Amino acid sequence: MPGAAASLLFLSLLVLESSAVQFDFKVAPPKAATASNNNLDSVGNNRYITNITISGNVVPVLIDTGSTDLWVAPPQGLTNFNDTGLSTTVRYGDGSTFVSGDIGVGAFSLDGQFTVPFQAYLNVASEAGEDPDLDIGIFGLLGLGFETNGGSEINNAVQHAQGPEATWGQSVLSNIFAQNPDSSNFMGIALSRLGDQEGSADGSLTIAEYDPDYESVQNSPKLSQTPAGSGTWSIVLDSFKVGGNPITWPSTLSAAPAGKNIVLLDTGTTNILMPQAQVNAIYSTIPGAVLTQDPNIPLAHVSESHNVWVVPCTAEINVATTFAGQDFAIHPLDVTDMGIIQSPDGTHNFTVCLNAFTDIGLIGQGETDALFGDSFLRNVYTAFDFGTGGPTKGTPFVQMLSTTDATKSAADFTAVRAAAMQNMPPELKPIDLIRVFNGSLNAADAVPVSTDSKKNDASRRTFAPGMGVVLGGFLLGFSTLF
Ligand SMILES: *[C@@H]1O[C@H](CO)[C@@H](O)[C@H](O)[C@H]1NC(C)=O
Ligand SMILES: *[C@@H]1O[C@H](CO)[C@@H](O)[C@H](O)[C@H]1NC(C)=O
Ligand SMILES: *[C@@H]1O[C@H](CO)[C@@H](O)[C@H](O)[C@H]1NC(C)=O
Ligand SMILES: *[C@@H]1O[C@H](CO)[C@@H](O)[C@H](O)[C@H]1NC(C)=O
Repeated sequence: MPGAAASLLFLSLLVLESSAVQFDFKVAPPKAATASNNNLDSVGNNRYITNITISGNVVPVLIDTGSTDLWVAPPQGLTNFNDTGLSTTVRYGDGSTFVSGDIGVGAFSLDGQFTVPFQAYLNVASEAGEDPDLDIGIFGLLGLGFETNGGSEINNAVQHAQGPEATWGQSVLSNIFAQNPDSSNFMGIALSRLGDQEGSADGSLTIAEYDPDYESVQNSPKLSQTPAGSGTWSIVLDSFKVGGNPITWPSTLSAAPAGKNIVLLDTGTTNILMPQAQVNAIYSTIPGAVLTQDPNIPLAHVSESHNVWVVPCTAEINVATTFAGQDFAIHPLDVTDMGIIQSPDGTHNFTVCLNAFTDIGLIGQGETDALFGDSFLRNVYTAFDFGTGGPTKGTPFVQMLSTTDATKSAADFTAVRAAAMQNMPPELKPIDLIRVFNGSLNAADAVPVSTDSKKNDASRRTFAPGMGVVLGGFLLGFSTLF
């Protein structure tokens, strides 16, 4: 579940002048800092969750830099729910996705370290459609975005009822920051990657402090929110490189500096959403890759059109982004997704690899050129500074530290893919897979791509445990529209 598109509509940045009671959380004991060093879990590399405690209930929630409110919907309900009698609806994406319920208030805590004694949240009673996150054990959402004027529905409802002095309806971050007005208002996020060999298994969310592993992020260039006052984590992208060469990408935004783009950093988006022309510019460089619109070939991730690039699974693609003149490599494992697909006649399973970056369509139109979700954010440690406190008061900014070494990740990709494919069904050349699906080639006649490890081993059709394979659906991603 996505951040709020609605939040993009609010252009004025509200500088918080909070009158909340102060609690001293500045001096974090070393033990607590260690605990918060591994407080984010990946669900299939698609969603990033943390356990929060609200009104005494421990709830696993999605972390979402694209929205601001906190909501929970645990299947067993909430104990100690203190209903304020207020209710609201929070909308996401194009507005058709929403959650509604009663606003409660209670003690919030993350790791027992970041706490708010009196925090408003939404106890969700109903939602639009079925949220796929609930099926995979994610029972809420923690918004980590801006509290622009009106950007929080919960705060709107609380202040409407109680007046502008009521601060308990503010976002969790605003309430934590308000406890320590002298320090900078920032958070640090590290997302883990499942399945690589670099031991990047630990993810972390820290508030007003850095993950000790990545403290040098403070020395990275400050990437200012652009345009200032956007109310989102939108920053300037210098270029997007494939094989070392920038792709052509004219921005649609007047706020973008000449020759550059604006992208929005969103932990609530699984992949990278960008215009189809740029998706094509990236994947067309892979020898043997084929673009298809066959609706029988499922999408790897949410896309606004049915364009799918089928790519050879062992094709390693060298992708990097440039911010403030610095390159940030994207791990090849983040560029394509591997899964298993059943032939239309049901007689054969094939391994298939598809584009991880997909068509943004009209999402974010007029606000951003792209959503840089988890496929990008796994490659950096990011400090998000709201610019609302302490010595860094001013325009919000982001600092990023690369966690992906282009050379090492290329070797890692080759080893990881080869090992995974040992235990998977045969792979076809992309063009042959497309022909199997459009009926011009019988699955039984298709000749698998031969790799040394698989040669003459047609019997090896077992499945790698934990591959998260969904046959037919191939649903490796979710509809994370913001
Ligand atoms: C959340 O709590 C569950 C249950 O105690 C635990 O298994 C899981 O590891 C926790 N997740 C994180 C990110 O700490
Ligand atoms: C319950 O919520 C009301 C506001 O609706 C608040 O005044 C009261 O202090 C809350 N009680 C607890 C125990 O949090
Ligand atoms: C394809 O994979 C599914 C899921 O593991 C399995 O049930 C099915 O028998 C496989 N089909 C063939 C033809 O191997
Ligand atoms: C199936 O796809 C192949 C490869 O794109 C194409 O050459 C062929 O004309 C298609 N056949 C049908 C029946 O659509």
